[in-house]
Order: sequence, then structure tokens, then C-alpha cells
Amino acid sequence: MAKILSISGSPRRGGNTELLLEAALQPFVEGGHRVETFHLSARKVAPCIACEKCAADGVCFIDDDMPWLLDRVTRCDAVIVGSPVYNRNLTAQLQTVFNRFHCVIKKRPLRGRIVFGGAIAVGGAPNSQGIVLDTLHNFLLSLGVCCVPGALNGVSVVAREKGEVRTQPKSLQDARVLGENLLTVTNRCAGPET
Ligand SMILES: Cc1cc2nc3c(=O)[nH]c(=O)nc-3n(C[C@H](O)[C@H](O)[C@H](O)COP(=O)(O)O)c2cc1C
Repeated sequence: MAKILSISGSPRRGGNTELLLEAALQPFVEGGHRVETFHLSARKVAPCIACEKCAADGVCFIDDDMPWLLDRVTRCDAVIVGSPVYNRNLTAQLQTVFNRFHCVIKKRPLRGRIVFGGAIAVGGAPNSQGIVLDTLHNFLLSLGVCCVPGALNGVSVVAREKGEVRTQPKSLQDARVLGENLLTVTNRCAGPET
């Protein structure tokens, strides 16, 4: 059984990012795999304050939902990250999460493991999803995740109103294709159960 982790950078519960992630996760759900979500509409993560206390032991002293995520990232087989476009970039909430990997990144937490990942970006206008996808893929690669494409690159969607992607079968299908690709490569590289 594969373990997939879904990270949504949207503060809007039930919004487009969460719906697209849900579509991408569907192949894992249908296959009976373990799906866990870290959606920032329901989690609290405080910003890194650059105290560098983590330099000694890789442990951050901030008491929030980040330890849960760090634990799951080091144990998952696949991770899928989605963000709305905010001001032509990813959301502050998701950037905050990425910054908080500072405490573990030097230890290369995925060393010795093969973890696959994919990215989804959704914005109200059709011009900035590429920037967001680049940033999401860069983060995954920095972590040591092997990035997997959807039908083309990451999943790029134009939608503004809450839940608008429900009326876009093609966008939901594009997200599903990313999930299918992730599951295919994850199954091919599956090691012994942990
Ligand atoms: C603060 C804020 C900034 C935004 N900036 C952009 C932007 O620069 N470009 C864009 O295409 N859409 C922008 N949007 C629209 C969102 O990307 C869009 O509504 C998206 O569907 C939200 O995803 P969600 O439903 O998952 O939260 C912005 C929305 C908000 C609230």
C-alpha cells in the first residue's frame, strides 16, 4: 500500500485547490492506498523566525502543526502540493510551510528513499500558474522529491470563484491524470512495507 500526502496552500476550505487535489488523489483512494492531507484551511503553521536554534539538532521549537507534516513527509511515498495564485505567486501560508523546512533540509530527510511528487496551481487569470508551478516543483526537488508531470507539466487551472472547478471537467481530469501518473511510478518503485 502506498502512502500519499496532499498539501494544499489555500486558506479557503472546499476551494478550487482542495477540489483539484481531491481529484488527483482519487486514483489512490480507488486503489485502497493511504491518503493523508495537510490542508492549510485547517492547519496552523507559524513563520520561521530565523533563530537558528534548530541548527544543533534539526528540531524547531515552535509548537504548531508543522511537526505532523515533517513526520509524514519523511514517511510518504508520494506527495502532491497545490496552491492558488496569490499576487502572481504562491500563498503566504504555503511559503510559510516551505520556510519551516529549514530545520530539516540540511539533513536531507528523504535521503535513501524514492518519493514522487506533483504540483497543481490555480488562479483567477491565465498568466501566473507557471510561476507557481515552478516554485512548487523547485521546493519538491530541493527536498529530494522526483517530480512527475500530469498530462503536460504540472496541473495549471484558471478558476476564481470558490468551487468553480466543479464546472470544469477538463481541469478535474487533468488533476486526476497527475494522480494516475504518480500512482504508476510509485507502484513501479514500491519497496517493502514500512
Ligand atoms: C489575496 C488574493 C490574491 C490573488 N491574486 C491572484 C493573482 O495574482 N493572479 C490570479 O490569477 N488570481 C489571483 N487570485 C485568485 C485566486 O487565485 C483564485 O480565486 C483561486 O481560485 C483561489 O483558489 P482556492 O479556491 O483554492 O482558494 C487571488 C486571490 C486572493 C484572495
